[in-house]
Amino acid sequence: MKNVIAIYPGTFDPLTNGHLDLIHRGSRIFDQLIVAILRNSEKTPLFSLEERIGMLKECTADLPNVRVDTFEGLLVDYAAQQKASAVLRGIRAVSDYEYELQMALMNRKLDSRIETIFMMPAEAYSYLSSRLVREIAQLGGSVTGLVPEMVEDRLRRKIKRVEPPGRLPVNRS
Ligand code: PNS
Repeated sequence: MKNVIAIYPGTFDPLTNGHLDLIHRGSRIFDQLIVAILRNSEKTPLFSLEERIGMLKECTADLPNVRVDTFEGLLVDYAAQQKASAVLRGIRAVSDYEYELQMALMNRKLDSRIETIFMMPAEAYSYLSSRLVREIAQLGGSVTGLVPEMVEDRLRRKIKRVEPPGRLPVNRS
């Protein structure tokens, strides 16, 4: 019996309904799906690694064959270490294709045992990205329906803490 393990890698800053849609689709195809968050010290994410792990774990708790993990270094090395034979990536529009193709072919060059499998999220999420969600939330727009409810709540709480620019502390003396 084959036990196909796939890695769904990404930054997930934050998790969107598009990511979640792909996780559901992947969990139906693969025996095990590992959602792997890149630990990247060069980027300053909106949500800390711990926060992103927490949100992903909570939103995938109903999927018994899905596990959340983190990785650093080369994706192919992590995949081999996890005995995974596939990498799952989402393709939303033609604009994603060039970057994804380059990455898939480079990963194949690095380790030919690992196949990249592309899946398309539901059409409703084809224009959705974490970057746009962050921008909309930071500018006070609504992200309802774009991210899971608990992510929306965390976004609201996180962004509330940011002081508007130029506001000086009140001098009460
Ligand atoms: O969500 P993202 O930012 O599109 O995910 C990009 C990710 C994490 C899949 C990619 O940056 C990655 O795999 N990084 C690990 C380093 C690596 O293996 N680089 C070579 C890729 S060909």
